[in-house]
Amino acid sequence: MCGIIGYTGTKRDVVKVLINGLKRLEYRGYDSCGSAVLNCEGKIELDRVKGRVDLLVQRVLEKNYKNVSCGIAHTRWATHGIPAEENAHPHTDCRNEIVVVHNGIIENYLELKTELNKHDFKSETDTEVIPHLIEELINQNLRKEVIIKSEFLQPVFFKAFIDVVSKLKGSFALAVMWSKVPGVILAARRFSPLVIGVGEEEFFVSSDVAGFLEYTKKTYFVDDDEIVFLDPKNIAFFDINGKKKNKEISLISWDIKMAEKGGYRHFMIKEIFEQDIGFENTIMRRVLPVDSNLFERETGISDNDLKSFSHIHFVGCGTAYHACLCGKYLFESFGIAADADLASEFPYRQNVLDKNALVCVITQSGETADTLEAVRIAKRNGNKIFAIVNVVGSTVSREANWVLYTHCGPEIAVASTKAFTSQLAALYVLLLHIAYKRDKLLITKAREYAKELIEIPKVIRKIFKSEEYIKKIVDDVSDKNDFLYTARGINYPIALEGALKLKEISYLHAEGYAAGEMKHGPIAIINEGMPVVAISLSTSDLELMRSNIEEVKARGAKVIALCDDVSSKYVRADWKIIVPKVSEWFSPVTSVIPLQIFAYYVAFKKGLDIDKPRNLAKSVTVK
Ligand code: G6P
Repeated sequence: MCGIIGYTGTKRDVVKVLINGLKRLEYRGYDSCGSAVLNCEGKIELDRVKGRVDLLVQRVLEKNYKNVSCGIAHTRWATHGIPAEENAHPHTDCRNEIVVVHNGIIENYLELKTELNKHDFKSETDTEVIPHLIEELINQNLRKEVIIKSEFLQPVFFKAFIDVVSKLKGSFALAVMWSKVPGVILAARRFSPLVIGVGEEEFFVSSDVAGFLEYTKKTYFVDDDEIVFLDPKNIAFFDINGKKKNKEISLISWDIKMAEKGGYRHFMIKEIFEQDIGFENTIMRRVLPVDSNLFERETGISDNDLKSFSHIHFVGCGTAYHACLCGKYLFESFGIAADADLASEFPYRQNVLDKNALVCVITQSGETADTLEAVRIAKRNGNKIFAIVNVVGSTVSREANWVLYTHCGPEIAVASTKAFTSQLAALYVLLLHIAYKRDKLLITKAREYAKELIEIPKVIRKIFKSEEYIKKIVDDVSDKNDFLYTARGINYPIALEGALKLKEISYLHAEGYAAGEMKHGPIAIINEGMPVVAISLSTSDLELMRSNIEEVKARGAKVIALCDDVSSKYVRADWKIIVPKVSEWFSPVTSVIPLQIFAYYVAFKKGLDIDKPRNLAKSVTVK
């Protein structure tokens, strides 16, 4: 939610760094955007637009700013105040000297605003209190200095910023500039992501590493209530009381090419076709009993921890929640009790949360506000946290006891695809370790499963070949407005995920239902020609699925059956997408990919903005 980028340094064209950064962060929010650059004479140039980054780029490039020493920019996902130019960031003080970009929500902004009744507010945002508060404190402090020498300005700015940060309630990642101190950027965070990129005599501040990955891989992850001082030659970290801190630098393994479209029309389709690699990289050298060392070394979890928990409690949001549901079916099929909760609903369960349960959070970004909150609730309850995360160094990865990274590379499209199948891969790795260590799986059986798991990337590549066939189905049904997805057992979460994908990017009405529930309501909405996507693989419930399909067909539905080469002989359908047959518990991988491709081509046919669907953002960092 909202992307922040800032740069100070003399090596590069500041405007270009901001533009490139904004383009890479645009997936975080895209209803309006803006930038502020500061030239060496101390003049701030502010540009803001309602709409996409491309609009801002046109405007900024026409102005051809010269002698720029530093700048900050922002792409917005509206919370307080409608998407409009005046609500776009950066926000300024009364004299347009202090500029602020912010990601998060300032919960006490109304209270703070009442202290600032002499100030001239221009927007409806919560953020705008910040530059005015800084202005107020700077004015108070400067009045105390009899002669205002330039060397006073930097400490006065710093002190005012720290004091303001301590007054704020809620969540924030902030970057701030003051026209009187060219080259200086101050930044801070609480609950919203912020990272610093380190170059040679240049620094970047960004919501995530994608903002500066083309210039440097050296990164500092900013912690909660940490203040950062940057100028072209210096970087320093402080706690909220202004005490200096030492920090360790990290090296990011992602490559900038991974965050580019590489010839594909959209990130989403590129990411769909990267799922074989993402899956392979996630299981590689971690699959027990073939090769288990890496899993233990990376996560640091002991055999005792794997054996001693009472049950496993999965928590996540959106697509990651659907991975949680698959986790529940998987673990329970091996006799290990499991729960799965939406992170936003998890707080309501805390009174009954067994502190001996292993809480397993699944998140691509590692920054989703509700998932983070669930981690904190569970930790306060005394639970240990195992996290399945994609973004290295993200907040969840730093707060969890153990982390198993999914290695699918950066996921840019808002609708999650490769992150999901790599989350499934991580679940298989975890399950093999836990089931084996808890004597739920004999070594011979574990070897059999491991062998099959290692072959799954090849199966995924075979599924990619169904793309052309799926396009034909899309041609046939793309005039329909309502879709029903149905399945049983471990593929029920995939019915939910298939419907979610279609909703997210094509704005069509799609519902996922457990096939056994159809007769309890949903079958009433079926009319002549309504498309029903039925996942009917050769699993233990194929017979039941077959009856469910007959029931909807008898009421006029047009059935798109997702079959494997065996089940396809038993099922009657208008369309049959055929995937290779795999063991039941690997089947979510094979069933979800055709549904992702289907959703993609429906949205493509409608000419929609697939990578940045309306009203959505990739990383939901506010509750
Ligand atoms: C947003 C995204 C989804 C994602 C969900 C959870 O809603 O649009 O694609 O599944 O957040 O995100 P996380 O980063 O926690 O997996």
